Amino acid sequence: MKGVTVIDHPLVQHKLTIMRDKNTSTAGFRRLLREISLLLGYEVTRDLQLTTTTIETPIEEMEAPVLEGKKLVFASVLRAGNGLLEGLLDLVPAARVAHIGLYRDHDTLEAIEYFFKAPSDLADRLVIVVDPMLATANSATAAIDRLKARGATNIRFLCLLAAPEGIARFTAAHPDVPVYTASIDRQLNEKGYIMPGVGDAGDRMYGTK
Ligand code: URA
Repeated sequence: MKGVTVIDHPLVQHKLTIMRDKNTSTAGFRRLLREISLLLGYEVTRDLQLTTTTIETPIEEMEAPVLEGKKLVFASVLRAGNGLLEGLLDLVPAARVAHIGLYRDHDTLEAIEYFFKAPSDLADRLVIVVDPMLATANSATAAIDRLKARGATNIRFLCLLAAPEGIARFTAAHPDVPVYTASIDRQLNEKGYIMPGVGDAGDRMYGTK
């Protein structure tokens, strides 16, 4: 098992508290999610491998560090994943993007794919899957099943909040995928919401409901 990293940076925790507050506006929630995704993105990319390239500064030639390998992929689990995606693309503008759309079948409760678009060479890239809420882990697990089916082997999962139940299910299904989160909250309620949580992240972000 690769484990779970809680990103306890003071700025992350401060911003998360404002996001949790039900009186925070849609615009405020969206702005904070974008800001926090920069800080989360910093941590999830902290150990990326570097190589060097020769450049000339105005003073002299030097061997300077650059990221090694192919551009990484951010895979957004629709729709709430897009809230994290925007800030991550500010941080890594050259990243490739995958979109994964899933809905839950009412009868079988299975995650059904309605949209999947990703770079064709997933096998050669680090894929960072983003979804703000790791609650039941149904969609996160299904999204990663699909990425693996298309060849991805080097995957990380980034969320804002996780429930202990979601972490247990996720790590049982994908022990090779490390999880990064700003907080592990207390538990899920009977409707599958994280407590204390932020509510429905998609609704908070887009002002729907
Ligand atoms: N999805 C959300 O948006 N919020 C939760 O609390 C759980 C799942």
